Amino acid sequence: MSETPDKRNEAANPQWGARFAAGPSVVMQEINASVGFDRELWRQDVRGSLAHAAMLAKVGIITAQDEQAIRNGLAAIAREIENGRFPFDTALEDIHMNIEARLTERVGEAGRRLHTGRSRNDQVATDFRLWVRDAIDGIGAQIDDVMRALADRAVAHAADPMPGFTHLQTAQPVTFGHHLLAYVEMLDRDRSRLADCRRRLNECPLGSAALAGTSFPIDRAATAQALGFDRPTANSLDAVSDRDFALEFLGVAAISAMHLSRFAEEIVVWCSAPWRFIRLSDAFTTGSSIMPQKRNPDAAELVRAKTGRITGALVGLLTVMKGLPLAYAKDMQEDKEPVFDATGAWALSLAAIAGMVRDMMPDTARMRELAGTGFATATDLADWLVRVLQLPFRDAHHVTGRLVAKAEAKGCDLAGLTLQDMQAEEPRITADVFSVLTVEASVASRTSFGGTAPSNVARQAARWRAALA
Ligand code: ARG
Repeated sequence: MSETPDKRNEAANPQWGARFAAGPSVVMQEINASVGFDRELWRQDVRGSLAHAAMLAKVGIITAQDEQAIRNGLAAIAREIENGRFPFDTALEDIHMNIEARLTERVGEAGRRLHTGRSRNDQVATDFRLWVRDAIDGIGAQIDDVMRALADRAVAHAADPMPGFTHLQTAQPVTFGHHLLAYVEMLDRDRSRLADCRRRLNECPLGSAALAGTSFPIDRAATAQALGFDRPTANSLDAVSDRDFALEFLGVAAISAMHLSRFAEEIVVWCSAPWRFIRLSDAFTTGSSIMPQKRNPDAAELVRAKTGRITGALVGLLTVMKGLPLAYAKDMQEDKEPVFDATGAWALSLAAIAGMVRDMMPDTARMRELAGTGFATATDLADWLVRVLQLPFRDAHHVTGRLVAKAEAKGCDLAGLTLQDMQAEEPRITADVFSVLTVEASVASRTSFGGTAPSNVARQAARWRAALA
């Protein structure tokens, strides 16, 4: 550098302003600065700098004394940020330059040596990976918690019938526990997608420098290991310009939010007076300012809605990234807000779902009552005709259809038909048919693997509870 720091133009950026005669316009500063949101990365930035400084000292690029000064300075800065006393400065653009400038203010020249062999490009890529990795771990624990809440409820309701739906029309009875375990399976896949994402993410960009690597004899394996990465990234251009890890994380988030939204929708429906399958306590409902009787499931509605911003974050970042030539471009600074926002929305949604699952009071009598309506055991009747009378299933379907029509005309359910009614359609039907027409018999008969038979559901619920303990 031709100029010493104290002789530089005051208005220009103190980190890179040496070749600038004037400072940026107000608009330039405003569009350029990210410290308003990327301060969220401060812990990861400090972690990354500590690992980088330790490595620089180890290979002899900086002295042990400098490393010590950097370490002390960063510890003091971490305390300042934690206590809300850090002087964030928009003129310093982002969290990386804010921390570095403050470090130099505190420890002098040692601070100015920290950026040897690295660039903000590999620095931000490293920090952001660390942040997303921390988020994956936090979200993963929350998914476990929701699964645990669902599995507990499924154990208790393994044998309680409810109407099962297709097209939201009564289809066949299932058990409430079976229904809840369906979401456990979905969340388990979300967990597994997160684990995949974490595995692919876990390579360290630090030391890729601006885009080409560095001429300093750095030890990338050492920094990778110190930061808990499996290995350093293998191509410096890719390392500074890849945001797949964030996109993949958002992809998992969008799928998981979609799952949570489907469950939230069911909660909304189940709470509604014409259904009355469950009741939420005061802790998870709100009142209406005009209708005194209302208990609104706002938390469920908001979980359903937050899917919008989470999916939006994915589409937003995909759009930012498409068409960017290698390597780094400032467009990529727009990667953080969608990820921060989606993570917050996802975490809150998981917490709300866990809360509602634990809070809800199922009305099992009501569910049982509705499970038997809508000719829900018609399939059981058709299956009986196949099993006992050896009718081809299509013929059995036809006979049953006519019996449903007859029951509908008489205003009764299938079990309310007389044996004579039945025999008028198929003379070989015996009284034994009535044994399959109850809701209990129907669910108990679904013993195929993965089916709703209470014995199956109890086994699956116990397996999940044990796995999640
Ligand atoms: N704040 C920047 C970002 O988030 C850091 C990297 C800036 N690098 C650069 N060459 N301007 O992307």
